[in-house]
Amino acid sequence: MQVSNSQSTTYNDSVVRQFSIMAAVWGVVGMLVGVIIAAQLVWPELNLGLPWTSFGRLRPLHTNAVIFAFGGCTLFATSYYVVQRTCHTALFLPGLAKFTFWGWQAVIVAAAVTLPLGFTQGKEYAELEWPIDILIALVWVAYAVVFFGTVGTRKVKHIYVANWFFGAFIIAVALLHIVNSAAMPSSFLKSYSAYAGVQDAMVQWWYGHNAVGFFLTAGFLGMMYYFVPKQADRPVYSYSLSIVHFWALIFTYMWAGPHHLHYTALPDWTQSLGMAFSLILLAPSWGGMINGMMTLSGAWHKLRTDPILRFLIVSLSFYGMSTFEGPMMAIKTVNSLSHYTDWTVGHVHSGALGWVGLVSMGSLYYMVPKLFGQKQMHSIKAIELHFWLATVGIVLYIAALWISGVMEGLMWRAINTDGTLTYTFVESVKAKQPYYIIRLLGGLLYLSGMVIMLWNVIKTATSGKPATVSIPPVAAHA
Ligand code: HEM
Ligand code: HEM
Repeated sequence: MQVSNSQSTTYNDSVVRQFSIMAAVWGVVGMLVGVIIAAQLVWPELNLGLPWTSFGRLRPLHTNAVIFAFGGCTLFATSYYVVQRTCHTALFLPGLAKFTFWGWQAVIVAAAVTLPLGFTQGKEYAELEWPIDILIALVWVAYAVVFFGTVGTRKVKHIYVANWFFGAFIIAVALLHIVNSAAMPSSFLKSYSAYAGVQDAMVQWWYGHNAVGFFLTAGFLGMMYYFVPKQADRPVYSYSLSIVHFWALIFTYMWAGPHHLHYTALPDWTQSLGMAFSLILLAPSWGGMINGMMTLSGAWHKLRTDPILRFLIVSLSFYGMSTFEGPMMAIKTVNSLSHYTDWTVGHVHSGALGWVGLVSMGSLYYMVPKLFGQKQMHSIKAIELHFWLATVGIVLYIAALWISGVMEGLMWRAINTDGTLTYTFVESVKAKQPYYIIRLLGGLLYLSGMVIMLWNVIKTATSGKPATVSIPPVAAHA
């Protein structure tokens, strides 16, 4: 019976601890910027008349901070945690894993400096200029070496499904980032895309949609497949379904990007193809969601007493909701109403706050006490409070934007009998003001929950000490 690999008898969790703490820190920072820009949309004077604090510069700062800093640190932390436990081995090349931590923090700081200064490639979610892109590529290759090296040196034959999702996320993001970032530098912080015109748009939204599919979904599904069964103390509902879910999801996502470019110069058949694949995408998305939810069958009562499980399961209901809404919005006639409106922003945040945010929080609450040798988080009451602040915050946010989005879409297309527009554009902007206040309120609630989480994480980390966890023996038949 082999106890561990030759290098180590304990898991290498120091990098997991670092990423977990920074996930909570960047969560607060990114959401704070979200609240600031939400307030700027209500009171434009909050732009302060300065270029660095204007909405146009802070918006990409928000998206980069929440997706790549908060989401990214959570993905690194959970994937490193899960791959070691499910492969019964320590992280491959721990020095390189350390590099991924410091390299990723350097990327985040570089983004936080350059975006407010106005350096941008102007491609949504791929704004960072070429020297930072190169650093991202280096960190990502190191990440792939550490992750797949760990899978390659596993002490069990089987590769657990969570690792398939994490692995697909790592490979796809490398591909997306390298292809979409191809650019010709003209100076240290200025470059021009390698693609032109409609091809540039198509490559960008192939990237953009798959950033959703792989950065904001596949990796988080990896979390679902590990942390939901762990916290519920139940096996995954259907392992066969998880395999069908994996292949169907990664195949379908790749083709759906054109739904971001309906009614543009993109050839019509490409738009229809994107629409058809978006509709198909409902099936694997819901298959996965049902697999996660049904893991709780026979244990639903645990939701009453376990706030961590509640984070994980409610995240799945938001996942189900946003992956129902997305395919509907991809239908061209529906998109002709929703596109350019707040409905899109509402859809984004039902996925981002509801799915990505809650599943991250649940997973971090599961891991953090174990990483610091504690039985549980410092305050369970605080987790309860966080759950309700976050849930009420999301509902306020997305309900307000559904109303304001559909309202503005209808106002734009309203026509008088003589063919003139019923409303001027500025009238539609003015009509949105009350809903923007409600969204701001929802955002404030969500942010205050995150601040409570950061406090709870720091308290748990400082009252414990870094835990050394032995790698359990693997049965000879495994
Ligand atoms: C306190 C929480 C948050 C608040 C108040 C907030 C607020 C905002 C605001 C005001 C915008 C700009 C909308 C516009 O241009 O009209 C925005 C955009 C965006 N936010 Fe957030 N946000 C929050 C959390 C998050 C999180 C956690 C994520 C991702 C994990 C996220 C992802 C995004 C994305 C992807 C966009 C761009 C949407 C688009 O282009 O349609 N946000 N957010
Ligand atoms: C079956 C799954 C999904 C489909 C088919 C889908 C479809 C769509 C559609 C049609 C749009 C509007 C495009 C436009 O009019 O410009 C959109 C926007 C967006 N969706 Fe989804 N969605 C799905 C799931 C999700 C999830 C789970 C998330 C977040 C975790 C998400 C994040 C986004 C973002 C960030 C945008 C805004 C992109 C931008 O314009 O900046 N989507 N999605």
